[in-house]
Amino acid sequence: MNKHLKMDRPATERFLDETAQNVLGTPMDRPDGPAKAAGQATYAHEWQIEGLCHGVLVRATIPAGRVARIDADAVTGRDGVLRVISDPRMLRVPAQGGANEAPDQGPDEVAYLGQPIALVVAETFEAARDGALALPVEYDPADFTVDPDAVEPEVPKKKQASQGDLEAAMREAAHSVDVTYTTPGHNSAAMEPHAAIAVWNGDDLLLRGSYQMLKYNRNELADAVGIDPAHVRILSPYVGGGFGSKLGITHEAVAAALASKELGRPVSVTLSRQQVFETTMRRSETRQRFRLACDAEGRMTAVGHEVLVSQLPGQQFSEPVTQATPFAYAGPNRVIGHRIARVNRTCAGSVRAPGEAVGITAMENAMDELAEAAGIDPVQFRILNIPEKDPTSGKPFSSHTLERALREGAERFGWSERRAPGQRREGDWLIGMGMASAIRVNILAEAKARVTLEPDGRVLVETDMTDIGTGTYSILTQVASETLGVSTDRVRVRLGDTDLPPGPGSGGSWGAASSGSAVYLAARAVRDRIAEAMGADEVTLKDGHAIAGNRRVDLAGLFDGPVTAEGHVEPGKTMKETRQSSFGAYFCEVAVNAVTGETRVRRMHGTFAAGRILNAKTASSQCLGGMTFGIGMALTEELLHDPRDGHIVNRDLAEYHLPVNADVPQIDVVLLEERDDYASPIQAKGIGELGICGAAGAVTNAIYNACGVRVRDYPATLDKVL
Ligand code: MOS
Repeated sequence: MNKHLKMDRPATERFLDETAQNVLGTPMDRPDGPAKAAGQATYAHEWQIEGLCHGVLVRATIPAGRVARIDADAVTGRDGVLRVISDPRMLRVPAQGGANEAPDQGPDEVAYLGQPIALVVAETFEAARDGALALPVEYDPADFTVDPDAVEPEVPKKKQASQGDLEAAMREAAHSVDVTYTTPGHNSAAMEPHAAIAVWNGDDLLLRGSYQMLKYNRNELADAVGIDPAHVRILSPYVGGGFGSKLGITHEAVAAALASKELGRPVSVTLSRQQVFETTMRRSETRQRFRLACDAEGRMTAVGHEVLVSQLPGQQFSEPVTQATPFAYAGPNRVIGHRIARVNRTCAGSVRAPGEAVGITAMENAMDELAEAAGIDPVQFRILNIPEKDPTSGKPFSSHTLERALREGAERFGWSERRAPGQRREGDWLIGMGMASAIRVNILAEAKARVTLEPDGRVLVETDMTDIGTGTYSILTQVASETLGVSTDRVRVRLGDTDLPPGPGSGGSWGAASSGSAVYLAARAVRDRIAEAMGADEVTLKDGHAIAGNRRVDLAGLFDGPVTAEGHVEPGKTMKETRQSSFGAYFCEVAVNAVTGETRVRRMHGTFAAGRILNAKTASSQCLGGMTFGIGMALTEELLHDPRDGHIVNRDLAEYHLPVNADVPQIDVVLLEERDDYASPIQAKGIGELGICGAAGAVTNAIYNACGVRVRDYPATLDKVL
């Protein structure tokens, strides 16, 4: 009695609104919280395993070329160094396909400085690190280039688009802007460094690691090592943040697997913080030219967004900067351009809302500039230009909450207090307000989950879905509790094991709505079994009891054995036939020091809508986190590459400046009530990354309002503001 649902029709059933358990959507505490806070949740690196040895990666000291010779004998045997693994398969990862069934592999030669080329394995971590530092390596260097502006970029045909006549619209416009913004590279910078422990049992590989999308990670690891995925099991029950850097497997997984096979012992490989910066994927820096135009009334007539990003030679991914540009604002004349500079910097990949995080941010700055040129309030200007349907494809929106978010957010924030640029001063501080829209495309991903009603009335939820700190344990507990009328303390959720039904993984903001839908369908199937056992068409499930007609029975003892069902959701026509996006609005107040150029964010507000909210606390925490990253993106965060060889010079948390508590004021998050019937069976949309998609733009627009300086080159450091 499994339940499969392909989203070919809108999900108009209001089942979850009518069960009335009042569990789903509430700000329930994380069930995994106490174990995490008490240090009892075991993360990948922490497993104590009999016979464990330690590997440390050796990384290329040239930006391009071939490894000619590795003198393993020079270090083997010294102080407990067991082996030097220099298998070429180690070089080829990662090529983060994200959701690719057949993963592409990365370069098989050195393509950037810091690329892992070997692993030194020893009895202790210290001996392995010493051996890795001492290992003699000779190279055949090759030509390289590390400056995206110094190469002729690739122009992939599929990524260019145009309609109408942008040039003519720009010429004839009452108001227009032609401005270029740049954003620097970013690192995901998850708190937990990448770690893997590999153990073989015959031909079977067991890997404890820290990854976001296990069903793909299993294929990637199998492919990298050269074995059948059926022989690979990955465990990732706890993940200390991913932000894209753990979407695909990374070098430590392949290195640990190969070394463990060769040595016949469990091998642990954990990246140092510097290695995280140097070997995991970066968000590409971007250059974005906007040509925007409107008529005398402020109605937009042109949207041009042309971008330059960079990537290693041969890699497929490129930062999808213009992902939301086709539908963000109205206007009949449109151009999208996408160019890729091939450079020998670390591999570019998905980092914290790939695309909109930087694309909407810069677009919201350009919109601010156009609103000013047109003499219209920035909030009004956006409302005026919300399209009725997707202006590029003509598809209807599944739901559209931008206007509501803008109006309600403006009201709560006190936007009407805003003055013209440079008009508010408190001593040395210039005070300004800025705003931006939040826009992030919505995706439903295929997901499976299993729900079991135990004979004692408890419920078990199982899927290989991950919880990367986002709250998966919470929301899946709530979905099962709401659907089955069993209190949340009697629901147990097992995640992060490839032996469990394959979920969608945590990525692209699709995790909660997709895996939540699979659990919902499985629980509905269990419900059907309960009704059947009661001899009724439908039952009311409440407080661990089933009620049908005048009968009320305890779920404990209703069945002799466990009752299990699988839920399976797949995207279908509703995703193809409607344009789906989550929306929101940011409002920010900054103080800019007239003497030093320092910016302090004083207040920040976000109003968001993403369909049904599954847990008010975890959902608003995601938005808080996104806005915090937005403050970092606006003011401090920036990967710096050595112009000589591309080496990332600020490769730790002391030099790569993420916002700390002192940089972040009280952030206020409001979630709007919404149901999106086209998005998922549970009417939920993606919210994970929504809070970063434009947030930095609200900060820099506020800087402009404070002091009249338009910083078009992120981050807005003191030197650029003065
Ligand atoms: Mo996200 S950057 O798709 O983990």
